[in-house]
Amino acid sequence: MGEVIDLLKQSGYSDKAIEYYVNKVNVGEMKDHDAHFAYTGPCGDTMEFFLKIDSTVIKDAKFQAIGCAGAFASGSALIEMIRGETLEQTEKIDENDIVNYLGGIPEPKIHCARLAKTTLGLAIKEYRQRRMQEP
Ligand code: FES
Repeated sequence: MGEVIDLLKQSGYSDKAIEYYVNKVNVGEMKDHDAHFAYTGPCGDTMEFFLKIDSTVIKDAKFQAIGCAGAFASGSALIEMIRGETLEQTEKIDENDIVNYLGGIPEPKIHCARLAKTTLGLAIKEYRQRRMQEP
């Protein structure tokens, strides 16, 4: 693993991004979720978000990904950023906020942060649409 970590560092991943990727922070599934969405981005990688929502506040979240180190680091960071926040606050987060929170990922990997942000946005959209249809 040491060699992989060195390579990630050399390519521009911050220590925090590497730690999130290596330890798979916030990776998993949530059976009793209130919102869920799986999305495949233009790069061909897939991310899946599970949200536990109390009214308009995100109480907890998990994600799964079939993707790169950038996807995993971004998903981990985004969940750290949204836990305890309202849906409205969450929707204001963009890919640059995720990259800044991580402390840096390689420039060509910024679209991986966008994949995390887009998947989360689609999960929230699906949740709102379902709520509106409830009697
Ligand atoms: Fe597809 Fe990173 S290359 S999410």
